[in-house]
Amino acid sequence: MSFGPVLILREVAPRVVRLAAVYARPEGEAAPRLVAEGRDYEAELLATIDGQRIWRVSFELPRGIEAVYQSDGQAHVVDTAYDGDMRIGFVSCNGEENGDIDRDRDERNAMWKRLADRHGETRLQLLLHGGDQVYADEVTHGHPLSEGWPDDSPETASDTDLAGLRVHLRARFLERYRISYTAPGFARLAAEVPSLMMWDDHDICDGWGSLGAVEETGVGRTLIAAAREAFLLYQHAATEADVPDLFLDPTGRSLSFRRDLPGVSVLAPDLRGERTRSRIMGDAGWAAFEAACDGLEPRVLLVSSVPLLGPRLSLIERAMRLTRRMETYEDDLRDQWQSYAHREEWCRMLRKVLELEAAGHRVTAISGEIHLAVRAELKGHSAPVHQLVSSGISHRAPPKAWAWVLGTLARLGEAPIPEHPIRIRPLPGRGGVYAAQRNFLTLERGGDEWRARWTLEEAGDTPWLTI
Ligand SMILES: [Fe+2]
Repeated sequence: MSFGPVLILREVAPRVVRLAAVYARPEGEAAPRLVAEGRDYEAELLATIDGQRIWRVSFELPRGIEAVYQSDGQAHVVDTAYDGDMRIGFVSCNGEENGDIDRDRDERNAMWKRLADRHGETRLQLLLHGGDQVYADEVTHGHPLSEGWPDDSPETASDTDLAGLRVHLRARFLERYRISYTAPGFARLAAEVPSLMMWDDHDICDGWGSLGAVEETGVGRTLIAAAREAFLLYQHAATEADVPDLFLDPTGRSLSFRRDLPGVSVLAPDLRGERTRSRIMGDAGWAAFEAACDGLEPRVLLVSSVPLLGPRLSLIERAMRLTRRMETYEDDLRDQWQSYAHREEWCRMLRKVLELEAAGHRVTAISGEIHLAVRAELKGHSAPVHQLVSSGISHRAPPKAWAWVLGTLARLGEAPIPEHPIRIRPLPGRGGVYAAQRNFLTLERGGDEWRARWTLEEAGDTPWLTI
């Protein structure tokens, strides 16, 4: 079964907007045909996986209008007027760990459909996906080498067996993306709104980077290679050959990226590619990220797949070490910036953000990960750094009791950088700190002012928050 076009934003150039459209088509079918402004663009074959061809069409649309392109004869409109008022959507956590592909499609995709309906009323111009674009946790099922991943995984395996595992995993990743990308709501948005995506753990497997030695086994290396190939193909319309052009780290170890639009930079550090139990980003990732902090636009949207600002989770984490039964949760907590294991790196990132704020940028961190909606503020020198958390678009919320625990913890406050306390705040117009409902976020620029609002599954839209 096919999917596409899924539009990926490449560049807002002076006169045109450069895009890449990614498609999957059965091997026997013709390549997709894309026409824009009377020009016929040729499709490039990126990969053949499990009887499907993955195609990319790189094309241009004129900037500043409601531009139209045809994909296999069907017209799609893309609003490329990025210079004035602007509307950006943010989503995360598109799936669930267990049984996601067997869920009722209408239930699973209810918030996608709502976002697509919104887009039908007022066009979105950019869609940011902040991690867990697919939940690939179950791709390891159904193959003898990876069936027991990660707890019961063989330490060694023959090259032939690993080659078989590779075939299995590539097919399973494609299946996950295909189901996500053909979902009602998603498909229309993907064809009309250019996307930018940064992965988190479930795009690979639960807790990737914090799993320890098993990641270095043949099975672990095969899994990360298949996940990385899938991330590049389906989330960036790219292959390894494109990595130096699209990402900040020339070595390609870290897949952090930056894209500039008029007045706003999207900065997305890769918090997975180089992660270990004792670090979030490696030397290559940090060097590339810090270099990319030069020459940013006045507004910076920092896509941090795990929330940059949050409560003192390290307290729970330390308590959890007292009991082995809590190990799964401990892994989840280890993934956070707030983990005691990452304190130094967390402070390094907070100082960088404060440095940008002091230099006159307005920085907004946007994150998913926790399947709840919440916001936080870091006291800046003259303006607060806002943290907006919106998650998930299809992952259902955890029990309300968990939201209450976090809310209680949030009252303790936290100030890893002296003089710059972090405060967790309720969403506009709401009482409890954490909102345990599925949700997405809309960011809007009107004149020089930016504002944001959450759309909650049951409670609907929050009032706008000026950021
Ligand atoms: Fe998630």
